[in-house]
Amino acid sequence: GSGKIYRASTTAPVNIAVVKYWGKRDRKLNLPTNSSLSVTLSQSDLRTLTTASCSTSYPSSDGDSLLLNGEPSDISGARTQACFRELRARRAALEAANPSLPKLSAMSLRLVSENNFPTAAGLASSAAGFAALVRAIADLYELPDSPAELSLIARQGSGSACRSLFGGYVAWRMGEADDGSDSRAEQVAEAAHWPEMRALVLVVSAAKKGVSSTSGMQQTVATSGLFRERVSRVVPQHMDAMEKAIKERDFAAFAEVTMRDSNSFHASCADTYPPIFYMNDVSRAAIRAVETINATAGRTVAAYTFDAGPNAVIYYSEKDTEAVVGTFFHVLGADLHGWKDDVVKGLKPTLSL
Ligand code: PMV
Repeated sequence: GSGKIYRASTTAPVNIAVVKYWGKRDRKLNLPTNSSLSVTLSQSDLRTLTTASCSTSYPSSDGDSLLLNGEPSDISGARTQACFRELRARRAALEAANPSLPKLSAMSLRLVSENNFPTAAGLASSAAGFAALVRAIADLYELPDSPAELSLIARQGSGSACRSLFGGYVAWRMGEADDGSDSRAEQVAEAAHWPEMRALVLVVSAAKKGVSSTSGMQQTVATSGLFRERVSRVVPQHMDAMEKAIKERDFAAFAEVTMRDSNSFHASCADTYPPIFYMNDVSRAAIRAVETINATAGRTVAAYTFDAGPNAVIYYSEKDTEAVVGTFFHVLGADLHGWKDDVVKGLKPTLSL
């Protein structure tokens, strides 16, 4: 055909939680068992770039498609389909209200997506991926929805994706409603509120996620007693303490809650039956390095956190760059116990937020 091609491109950054989302109370809608809070790494090159297009010249028999890092990707999963369905419904409503609008909602969608970091290695690729997918289609459809409204859709793709629609410090409020209408992200503070904050990403190369977050969560909810304690008591306290630490730019408090929450999440994973281990010896060496940095400085200058994989993210203050990055190069660079060679390439020494 010779139809016009409508197109929109966007990028979305990864976010790294300092109070972790772990556990679903509704698997279909991705409703969480607890609220969570993350930092969006907006200035980093850990991003997904997505282009969404549609055209009457795209054969409708093709259906919707996604090319991820150059490979055709399966989009038949319920989560991806939920995102497409919600975005189409919103476009269709606009078209119904304004008949002069082109009927994009009836056309096949083509998505092309590139990650510039390892997919499914516990580097929040699904967060950036679904955030970029939702925003690219929302832009293509010229939807008036706010980031908070779009976060409700991205959440259905991947829970953590709802937080990547905002920059800075972002809370995902778990909500109460059974339909998920109040389970959405909101910005707690802009990145500019705390300009000294930095994140160092330590990549353990070739480490693919052993247990997907979906099945890991399912097993944790089903079999861990420690998890019930985490959800009912630990996380609510961490959320309050974290929001206060951010408001007051109190790095020591921010760091303690970050490390405690990561430890609590991984302890819950170890408490499942059978246990799940995401960290490895290299991860534990990174924890000890942070402890050494803090002990040497006589104050808290660095905080570690780990998602569902062995890679470490280290938060620190700009003024302590030398102490933190220097120590990691010394500890890990000089003596590569278990670190693959390209770990040093994975170091992002002055990753500003
Ligand atoms: O969004 P998912 O389903 O990939 O789950 C992410 C879970 C963690 O990364 C471990 C924690 C979080 O809050 O991002």
